[in-house]
Amino acid sequence: MTRIYTFANQKGGAGKTTCVVNMGDYLTGRRRSVLVVDMDPQANATSSIGMGRHSDESDGDAGLTVYDALIDGMPFASVIRTTRRPRLHLIPSSPSLAGVEVELVGMPDRETRLRKALAPVLHHYDYVLIDTPPSLGLLTINALTATDDGVIIPVQCEYLALEGLGQLIHTINLVHDNLNPRLTVAGVVLTMYDARTRLSQEVADEVKRFFPEQVFNTIVPRNVRLSEAPSFGETIFTYSPESAGALAYSTLTEELLSREE
Ligand SMILES: Nc1ncnc2c1ncn2[C@@H]1O[C@H](COP(=O)(O)OP(=O)(O)OP(=O)(O)O)[C@@H](O)[C@H]1O
Ligand SMILES: [Mg+2]
Repeated sequence: MTRIYTFANQKGGAGKTTCVVNMGDYLTGRRRSVLVVDMDPQANATSSIGMGRHSDESDGDAGLTVYDALIDGMPFASVIRTTRRPRLHLIPSSPSLAGVEVELVGMPDRETRLRKALAPVLHHYDYVLIDTPPSLGLLTINALTATDDGVIIPVQCEYLALEGLGQLIHTINLVHDNLNPRLTVAGVVLTMYDARTRLSQEVADEVKRFFPEQVFNTIVPRNVRLSEAPSFGETIFTYSPESAGALAYSTLTEELLSREE
């Protein structure tokens, strides 16, 4: 059975993409096959996995992206790209995806197009990890509608991190009630934790009060290696496998695996 998780938080820079890329890579190391779906026009997951817009590593496709699937109905099978990692596949994004928010508005199935596009390829994968943009528009709604196993919310341990979480939960409830009855909050990840600051501790405590059940025990520390890795098209496990960031993402993903049992 394929597990499908959506990573969402409309606050920018919360760590969504870093979670998707590194948890995805760790899962492949645990011999799971993983499909990363990049639903963000910024295409950060796409470039982090080493598949930039100008990459020629793609295997013979015509540079199709998730946009072609959502708007023109191209089958996902023709959009999927292999990556340098054997069990890691990618549905890439591109800046043209920004227009989807407007183009989808008039379509009757505008909230369910991702779910429908994914269905025929699901059986190839153990995991589908969906990265979303920092907004609660139709791209994120599609991602929330497509998940079977829940949303994972990364929260940056910084000032104003909690602002907007109420709005996010409201949106999750709306999608649950109207589009996806299976939708739950599968987990909350505290990211960029700085043990030297009181603020980090305060944010962590507050988030635990807000989500006592869902928050992961593993806290991702602020670690410069995590921010350097994407510019080399590397994950933390190839770029700096001994770093605190690599340890955090391996422990976090193991925690997810043990929750699933
Ligand atoms: N634990 C960490 N320590 C240090 N830097 C980090 C950490 N996690 C992420 N970063 C860096 O912080 C920035 C924001 O992280 P990321 O891109 O994962 O957030 P995001 O939620 O996907 O942002 P957006 O909303 O723009 O898509 C990136 O430059 C990333 O490399
Ligand atoms: Mg991102």
